[in-house]
Formats: sequence, C-alpha cells, structure tokens
Amino acid sequence: MDDTTGKKILVIDDEVYIRDSVIGFLEDFGFEVIEAENGKIGLEKFANDQPDLIVCDLRMPEIDGLEVLAHVTQKNKNIPIIIVSGVGNISDTVEALRLGAWDYIIKPIQDMNVLSHAVNKAFERKHFIEEKAGYQRELERANKELNLSLEALELTKDQLVQSAKMAALGELVAGVAHEINTPVGVGVTAASFLDGKTREFHKMYKAGELKRSELENYITTVEEVSNSILINMERAAELISSFKQVAVDQSSKNRRRFNLKEYMDEILLSLRPRYKKSSHVVQVTCEPNIELNSFPGAFSQILSNLIMNSLVHGFKALENRAIDIDITCKEGQVIFVYRDNGHGMDQQQREKIFDPFFTTMRGKGGTGLGMSIVFNLVTQTLKGNIKLETEVGQGVTFTMTFPRHWDDT
Ligand SMILES: Nc1ncnc2c1ncn2[C@@H]1O[C@H](COP(=O)(O)OP(=O)(O)OP(=O)(O)O)[C@@H](O)[C@H]1O
Ligand SMILES: [Mg+2]
Repeated sequence: MDDTTGKKILVIDDEVYIRDSVIGFLEDFGFEVIEAENGKIGLEKFANDQPDLIVCDLRMPEIDGLEVLAHVTQKNKNIPIIIVSGVGNISDTVEALRLGAWDYIIKPIQDMNVLSHAVNKAFERKHFIEEKAGYQRELERANKELNLSLEALELTKDQLVQSAKMAALGELVAGVAHEINTPVGVGVTAASFLDGKTREFHKMYKAGELKRSELENYITTVEEVSNSILINMERAAELISSFKQVAVDQSSKNRRRFNLKEYMDEILLSLRPRYKKSSHVVQVTCEPNIELNSFPGAFSQILSNLIMNSLVHGFKALENRAIDIDITCKEGQVIFVYRDNGHGMDQQQREKIFDPFFTTMRGKGGTGLGMSIVFNLVTQTLKGNIKLETEVGQGVTFTMTFPRHWDDT
C-alpha cells in the first residue's frame, strides 16, 4: 500500500466482528482509524474528526449507509466513501454508487486485499482529483493574469497610437511654421524697405527739396512693394487656413462634406516641407468634382503616412523618384491608387506591413504603427479595403477602395 502516514479512516459498521477485523487490517497498514458503531455516531465523527476516507456498512439500524452517504456527499464530494454491503443487497449497492459512493466491497470480506485495493484506488483517485483541481486553479489564475496583461497591452497600444498621432500633428506644426516663414519674412523685408523709403521721402518733403521725379519714383516703389507685401500676406493667410483645416481634421474624428481634389491639394501643401528639399515629385490625378461625405482627418493621416513611408523607406538613398496618386470614382466607390517607384518590399515585409509594431527601422525612429493605423482608418473609419502589390525593386502600389458617401453603407 502507498504512503499511509497521517491518513485518517472512519469505519462505520454495527457488526463488531467486521468492524474489528477491518480496523485491525487498516491499522496494520499504518492508517489512523476512527470507529463508529452506527450511522448517527458515524456522522458525528465525520463532522468532528474530518477523516480522509470512510468505510461504511449499508444496512444499519436508524441511520443506514445510504443516509450517511447522502449526508457526507452533500457536505463534501471529495471524501471517498467505500460501501460494505451484503451479497444480497445488489440494488442498494447500485443506489449507493448512484449517490456518490466511490467503490464497494462485499461482505463477508474473505480477502482483505480486496479492501486494501479499494482503499488504495480511492486515495489515488482523490489525489488525482485534488491535483486536477490544483492545476485548474493554477490555470484560472494564469488566465486571469494573462487577461490583465492583455488589457494593459491594449491600453499601451492605444496610448502609442495616440502618441503616434500627436507626433504626426507635431511634425505638421513644425512644417507649418517653416512654410509660413518665407512669405512672412518677405513681407517684413518689404515693409521695412517701404518704411525707410517713406522716412527719406518725408525728410525731403519737409526740407522742401522734393522734385517731381522723386515723387513719381516713390509712388512706383510704393505700388510695387505694397503689392509684394499683399501677395506674400495672402500666401501666408492661405497657408494658415489650409493648415488649420488639415490640423483640425487630423486631430478630430468629424465627418463632413468636402471636395476630394481640393482637399488633397491642401494636404499635399501641408506635407510639402517634408519632401520639398528632395528631388522627388508627387503627382496627383483626380477628377475635380468628386464630392465626399466622409472623414477628412482620415485622408490626411493616410496620405501623410504613405508619403512619409515612401520618403523614409521606399526612396532611401535614391534620387529623382516619383509618387503617383490616381483617384477615380465608380458606382459610389472611390478607388484610390497610391504608387511609388522606390525599393519595394520582399514577401515577408509584404505579409507583415499592416501588423502593429512591424518596422524595419526599429531603434531608428520607426514605431511600426503607421501602416497599421492606415489599415484601421481605411477598413474601419472609411469602411473600405486596402491591398498592396509590391516586389523588391518594383516600388509599391496600394489600392484603397471605399464608399464615397459614408451614409450609403
Ligand atoms: N513605400 C514603402 N516602400 C518600402 N517599404 C515600405 C514602404 N512603406 C512601408 N514600408 C515597410 O513597412 C514597414 C512598416 O511601415 P509602418 O509605416 O507601419 O512603420 P514605420 O514607418 O517603420 O514606423 P512609423 O510609421 O510607425 O514611424 C516599414 O518599416 C518598411 O519596412
Ligand atoms: Mg511609417
């Protein structure tokens, strides 16, 4: 028999002879045995002494074995109960097994090994059940932990996506400042030139030295310079208003009506500082009258990610490359084709490009979120789809299709 130390067995039987022989046998094996001469005492001892296993006779006066069994299994299903029943009590034995008895032995017990086998088997099964419950608890705990980690990961992902958006907005603001600098600078130079000329003119006028030719000269200068100031200020105002729209759209999720061609021009204008100094060109072919009722912010994010990727990845160490954007409209669907003729991608990159955090620039400024954001914007915000065709050395072609009127879907 397996290790018996510290294991307590309760033997309930009203026949002294059987009880004694069973107890003697079990004690010989090293079990601690408690005895009870009827069901009532048996139940009391069960409650007070908390045995690890019960051997119980079926036929007893007052409280019989079936009642003991029902009571014990109701309290604790994991206490093994072995029923001892007479040869003629088959139906009671079946009922006992149905009620939750773990095993039975027939009396008179002729071979005590039958008892030892049943006890051994019951303890093994109990051990197995406890082990299983332990694993189950461990699994549930691990699962809970995993769920918590998953939630934390989702949160981090959302925060990263948010900060990627803010970074894009920050770059936009820097681009705006840079772009507006030129017309404002020209305007300031022209105004201070005009200021100087006017002071000189004033002096001459006061001194009474003003000649007709000088007056005409001054008028011509004023006309030219004020015109230059006007043009440059108008340019600055135009830049500010388009940047303002793009920036607001980029930070909001608003839907509105807009003309696609005009909006594309505004976005490209806001992106110009990023590619202006390179030798690359961006060409857009778009019918002038495509009106959309959709999310303009999504467009500017999609386009700025695609263009930045072409510049950073596609055209790396290359000169004179081109980005072609071709937009058509068919049966209420907008077909938006974006092409670059850069390095292209291999199969592994092609398969992973839309996965969050996939980047070939890890540690060099890439988070790998750009294309996953594009994918989500196209498929969720615009309710469309996106497909990529690319080969190494053949550039990339992204084809996006989405409904023109978001309401229609
Ligand atoms: N036009 C392209 N040409 C070649 N490779 C590209 C192009 N666009 C994307 N890739 C590849 O796909 C990867 C994932 O692009 P994605 O925009 O998701 O991340 P990233 O540009 O590396 O980082 P992030 O945009 O978050 O700063 C890039 O690292 C690059 O290897
Ligand atoms: Mg990117």
